[in-house]
Amino acid sequence: MHIGIMTGGGDVPGLNAAVRAVTRRGLSYGYTITGILNGWAGLAENEMRPVTDESVSGIMHLGGTILGTSRVNILKDQALVKEVLKNARSAGIDVLVVLGGTDTLTIAAGVHEAGLPIVAIPKTMDNNVCGTDYCIGFDTACTVIAEALDRLHTTASSHHRVIVVEVMGRNTGWAAAIGGLAGGADIVIIPERPISAADVCSRIHHRFEERGKAFSIVIVAEGAGISDLPDPDLGEPDDFGNLRLDRRNVGKRLQRQIEACLDVECRSLVLGHLQRGGSPTVFDRVLATRLGVAAADLVEQGWVGHMVALQGNRIVPVPLRSVAGQVKQLDPEFWELATIFY
Ligand code: F6P
Repeated sequence: MHIGIMTGGGDVPGLNAAVRAVTRRGLSYGYTITGILNGWAGLAENEMRPVTDESVSGIMHLGGTILGTSRVNILKDQALVKEVLKNARSAGIDVLVVLGGTDTLTIAAGVHEAGLPIVAIPKTMDNNVCGTDYCIGFDTACTVIAEALDRLHTTASSHHRVIVVEVMGRNTGWAAAIGGLAGGADIVIIPERPISAADVCSRIHHRFEERGKAFSIVIVAEGAGISDLPDPDLGEPDDFGNLRLDRRNVGKRLQRQIEACLDVECRSLVLGHLQRGGSPTVFDRVLATRLGVAAADLVEQGWVGHMVALQGNRIVPVPLRSVAGQVKQLDPEFWELATIFY
């Protein structure tokens, strides 16, 4: 058995731990393992290198991905799909293990159906892949957010300010809600629950005037809709139809609106790619290891066309097709829990 392994889409801490786990388990089965460099674009360009026990030694704690990554939608160009199939075939790859988020896994389902057998592993700090409770990288991102909020609390309270923290989250608010819950945010704004800036201001006013608070931390997901803050021009979408949401500057614009309607000092910051950098947390290392080993086991058992997923505390296979093109919104129970504290 010869397996390929690829990481696609946005990087997250924990990818290397998963690559190591797939490799170690695969080697124990006697497999040959080839690393595909730079995601789907790399496979279309035939960028590959052997992965050995030595190449995955000491990488568990490293953020990023030793394989490199890219965001290219090869399904938009059948010539690229043909190249991918041809290159995998001529390298002798029997099964490709793909680590990806919603976009990469949608491509994986298409490529599997086009003839290259695939086993998938969910990773994204957005945690919005269907069929799994958690994706690799989400816990680390929430930990970064919670640590940032801890630091912001001390400075916000000393200066009696409002601080608006913008976090990633294109179409779902998992990181904002869970990171905000852990970091004690006072107001959380997510794509699933659109709000107006006027409403945000009246909540802050209520905190200051009715509850005697002297500061507030507001966390906003980059993709959250704020009805009375119309978006600037965001340019052309990428191959997947995604706009550059960092260009929305929603946190900065909300800060200005708060300053305009309330007599408080307000500051804003964007956590950005800090949420995807650095070492993975223990949770992400263990999740990545469990999912990586399970992916190699699925290959061994012939369960191609499936994604390994965490459901409760079990790792289970789910059909890749049921995951493709889907987005998992924030579980309303977490929203109810978080809003108890707002
Ligand atoms: O990986 C998904 C994501 O984290 C989104 O929340 C965010 O919009 C996007 O990545 C930004 O990534 P990049 O700047 O690397 O394209």
